[in-house]
Amino acid sequence: MADVRPLVEGDLAEAQRIVRTAFGTFLGVQDLENFWTDFDYVYGRHGAEHTVSFAIDDDGRLAGSNFATRWGSVGFFGPLSIRADLWNRGLAQPLVAAASEAFTRWGVSHAGLCTFPHSTKHIWLYQKFGFRPRFLTPIMAVPARPGSLPERSRYSALAPDERRAAEDATYALTDAIYDGLDLRGEIRTVAARNLGDTLLLWDGASRLAGFAVCHWGPASEAGADCLFIKFGAVRSGAGADLRFARLLDAAGALAASVGMGKVLAGVNTAREEAYAQMAARGFRAVVNVVTMHRPNEPGYSRPGVYALDDWR
Ligand SMILES: CC(C)(COP(=O)(O)OP(=O)(O)OC[C@H]1O[C@@H](n2cnc3c(N)ncnc32)[C@H](O)[C@@H]1OP(=O)(O)O)[C@@H](O)C(=O)NCCC(=O)NCCS
Repeated sequence: MADVRPLVEGDLAEAQRIVRTAFGTFLGVQDLENFWTDFDYVYGRHGAEHTVSFAIDDDGRLAGSNFATRWGSVGFFGPLSIRADLWNRGLAQPLVAAASEAFTRWGVSHAGLCTFPHSTKHIWLYQKFGFRPRFLTPIMAVPARPGSLPERSRYSALAPDERRAAEDATYALTDAIYDGLDLRGEIRTVAARNLGDTLLLWDGASRLAGFAVCHWGPASEAGADCLFIKFGAVRSGAGADLRFARLLDAAGALAASVGMGKVLAGVNTAREEAYAQMAARGFRAVVNVVTMHRPNEPGYSRPGVYALDDWR
């Protein structure tokens, strides 16, 4: 079996080309050179403080890559891609194994990925590593809606000590949803790499009601004319539905204020109330993915949790 090695700077252009052409081939796209060229999954995460990236070669040339992301006690991997001329030769499996080893090293209590629910190959491949399919995650879009942004709602506008306090407030919120779930690395990375910003919603002076890590534009994972919520959540318990409505309103207003025409966000359908609220507010699914989990437990995808993400 071929050896996995770290992905390095010099691989990135080819890794991005392989991601685009492999997914395009799988999806039956004709014009592969112009597919997925308006957003990025490679440069934004490679080398980030909470990620690790892997490469595999064939005959001295890059054959594929995989990225593992750590959100505290939760780990997920992707995008995983192998050059289309090399499929079904066992090259993806060492890259899945490498991500699995990273999860073990990090000591995550919940690991996963998202994939194509209709693909027998994908489900088979990930099951071999102990991941099990659970609920669908529709990735949903709604037009942006101009509105006023609440006070102190932009993380990037905060002073350094306020940023740290805000990061810690997000951790208190996510840790209450799932023990150890931690988005602080993601929040810092989005700001440091100029991929977007984190939206913060406050109840009073210092109690965080919710937050959303947002990407927008072509250099990010969102793409042109789109604000993508990579992760969003509100404080659980009484009033969570109202906090969630405020968060979605604020995301629409942020999108409009930065010139994006739509908001895109994934919601696991096990988060029943959040999914229902998005549908009622006009969000419509663009595509469904399925999350696969190890162990085969809900993690933070369960009723009563108002959270947005899709593990892409
Ligand atoms: C998905 C992808 C990474 C797999 O890479 P690969 O190198 O072909 O995968 P491997 O050869 O390591 O493993 C494929 C496994 O699926 C099996 N398989 C292939 N076709 C299958 C099918 N139609 N149904 C069920 N299993 C199938 C293979 O037999 C192999 O399993 P085995 O070793 O137990 O026999 C690659 O096809 C790709 O880049 N696709 C486009 C991008 C993508 O979809 N990425 C993943 C998104 S979650």
